[in-house]
Amino acid sequence: MSSDASFEGRTVLVTGGGGALGRAVVRSLLDGGATVVAPSFTAGDDAALTALACAKLVAPAKVDLSDEASVDALYADVPELWASVHLAGGFAWSPLTDMALEDFEQLVTMNLRTCFLCCRAAARTFAGPGRIVNVAARPALVPTANVAGYAATKAGVAALTLSLAEELAPRGVWVNAIAPSIFDTERNRADMPDADHASWPKPEELAATITFLASPGNTSTRGAIVPVYGRS
Ligand SMILES: NC(=O)c1ccc[n+]([C@@H]2O[C@H](COP(=O)([O-])OP(=O)(O)OC[C@H]3O[C@@H](n4cnc5c(N)ncnc54)[C@H](OP(=O)(O)O)[C@@H]3O)[C@@H](O)[C@H]2O)c1
Repeated sequence: MSSDASFEGRTVLVTGGGGALGRAVVRSLLDGGATVVAPSFTAGDDAALTALACAKLVAPAKVDLSDEASVDALYADVPELWASVHLAGGFAWSPLTDMALEDFEQLVTMNLRTCFLCCRAAARTFAGPGRIVNVAARPALVPTANVAGYAATKAGVAALTLSLAEELAPRGVWVNAIAPSIFDTERNRADMPDADHASWPKPEELAATITFLASPGNTSTRGAIVPVYGRS
């Protein structure tokens, strides 16, 4: 086994690994020596993960992380799990008065249901100490207009993280989350062409924080919702 700073000999499962943040996190973990299991959902994910292909990256296809049986089957195939990093999720901007119930329910499914199912499966899978890292968002911590539905689901992720951190601490499983501001992605640049892109944190910067929280080198940080806002 490795030194405490390295993932050598350790397996990390990453959800949303084909996404903008996911690609940076998968790269960072592979660079740290981890074996990475990164399930893909759609063809877009497949293409992104194929571009990162290497002997230490396993990418099971067509895994819907909102489906209980699929999530449980995914984790059953990863017997020696060290860390589980849950990035799958999405965003919707909408004044609450304009928000359809089905749009809110979709956010709950993408952000909270996938996180719940993956946290539960990971907690059942760890044979000893381990790490869980979730992704909340700044509007869960800082009141922000016109994202109430989204903020509510990410506040759910934050609350789940804090409670689970206490539940799993006796087993040496540290549970944390990051809370990003808007970060620098192609999609955000296209949606907000006039914003100050330089102030946004970069996916690689978020990935560095996640990698630390997921690492054996994180010997004592648990139950944290870590702001990652860059200069925004
Ligand atoms: N982008 C931002 O500025 C920002 C700010 C704060 C927080 N966040 C959070 O950070 C995380 C990553 O964001 P991102 O910008 O990297 O998003 P992204 O590029 O859209 O990636 C999200 C990933 O989650 C996957 N996913 C969604 N629902 C899924 C499901 N039911 N089953 C399996 N996979 C599913 C997507 O798969 P498909 O593409 O195949 O659908 C995609 O790979 C998300 O939780 C997001 O809410 C983002």
